[in-house]
Amino acid sequence: MLVADDGRLLSAATAEHAPFASARAAWAEQDPLDWWRAAQEAVRAVLRASGIAPREIAAVGLSGQMHGAVLLDADGGVLRPAIIWCDQRTSAECASLNETVGAERLLALTSNPALTNFTLTKLLWVRAHEPNVWRRVRRVLLPKDYVRFRLSGEHATDVADASGTLMLDVAKRRWSVEVLDAVGLPHDMVPPVFESPEECARVSAAASAATGLAEGTPIVAGAGDQAAGAVGMGISRPGAVSATIGTSGVVFAATDRPATDPRGRLHTFCHAIPGRWHVMGVTQAAGLSLRWIRDRLCEGGGPTSYDALARDAEAVPPGADGVLWAPYLMGERTPHLDPDIRGALVGLAAHHTRAHIVRAVMEGVAFSLRDTLTIFQEMDVPVKRIRLGGGGARSPLWRRIQADVYGQAVETVAADEGAAYGAALLAGVGARIWRSVDEVCESLVRVADETRPDATAIRVMNERYAAFRALYPALRQVGSTT
Ligand code: XUL
Repeated sequence: MLVADDGRLLSAATAEHAPFASARAAWAEQDPLDWWRAAQEAVRAVLRASGIAPREIAAVGLSGQMHGAVLLDADGGVLRPAIIWCDQRTSAECASLNETVGAERLLALTSNPALTNFTLTKLLWVRAHEPNVWRRVRRVLLPKDYVRFRLSGEHATDVADASGTLMLDVAKRRWSVEVLDAVGLPHDMVPPVFESPEECARVSAAASAATGLAEGTPIVAGAGDQAAGAVGMGISRPGAVSATIGTSGVVFAATDRPATDPRGRLHTFCHAIPGRWHVMGVTQAAGLSLRWIRDRLCEGGGPTSYDALARDAEAVPPGADGVLWAPYLMGERTPHLDPDIRGALVGLAAHHTRAHIVRAVMEGVAFSLRDTLTIFQEMDVPVKRIRLGGGGARSPLWRRIQADVYGQAVETVAADEGAAYGAALLAGVGARIWRSVDEVCESLVRVADETRPDATAIRVMNERYAAFRALYPALRQVGSTT
């Protein structure tokens, strides 16, 4: 995405990479080389479409999926597919971290508990199960940082993305030497860490040839998709909250301190804004729930668009006529922290149609996001306004459902490209086009639309939310075999 110095979007391009491979239930891997191929294609396409001379580009910002472990050998070669954010194979490593480092000490050192999503647990899994690979690992990078490495030859990361590794001292915004020592990882296995708007690399000659960017163009640290997306939506100061439905779903609140939930149900991470933190709750399968329904259950009738599914579902009243969806296709993070829980469609009757199921899936995802708002209340995290992001914000029906489930008006912003837009804003701050991230959030991010909840629908949704809350303990009892 190319952004002008007044915040306008000049041009944008997308290149697909392969979906993740899942060799076993709740495993997820991707090939970093495929990300780099797609990144090159997208950069070339955006330059072509804009007609802007590469030399005019002041700086590049990066964002990407968080938590994934890219393992590099001494020559910078990728040693195995990246085990990515939603992979759930590392329960044993979490248990061993709780034993060796101690659950309380981990929380004190990193502000977060041991969770299967976090990068460190993936490293420990490779060390335990693939010793021949592990012996050759020299560097570990996060997904977008691998793209930076290919763009510049530099190893670097930012505090926001590094927060999701379980190796960062989130309160002090530096690597936790204590954690690295406790698990026996060399300190230079992780890259130098920067604040998100800081310049940390430059486009190399090789990458210039591969992408069309000018050699020497500064690259700022950037941020993981959630923190960058929050910047793109103007979520900078306490009180501002976003609810983003992408593959995963995230409710995100900016804070001026590293606020932790003593039960570790929320992530406490550095924000992409120096001196600011954030808390967030994550639904593992948000957009993924709808994609799963579309790809796996609707394929018989030929390709079905999300718009067509939503059009059918519009006709179903709030509450989906008694159908409930528990979106636990990839286990769940907030609030259950349970990699083994599985999803369920509940309350089906013979008269229900596909439209009821689609509406129930959209509602179930919103109920799951509301679980995070419930914890925010317990923690006194203020929620003054909620902005919606991701693919979920583009659907008028999902916007309405979210307003009714949260019981509050929800806004969308004019530049709805989320993380990529946030990364561009961070680059502009790094290049000193704008003074600060707060300034861009306040002056450049514009509200496009507001959806107000409906009083009757709020009542129905409150009742259905209570029923949704009863699903998890029931499903826990049923158990799963995979
Ligand atoms: C955040 C998270 C997701 C992934 C993929 O903790 O896991 O945002 O980064 O989108």
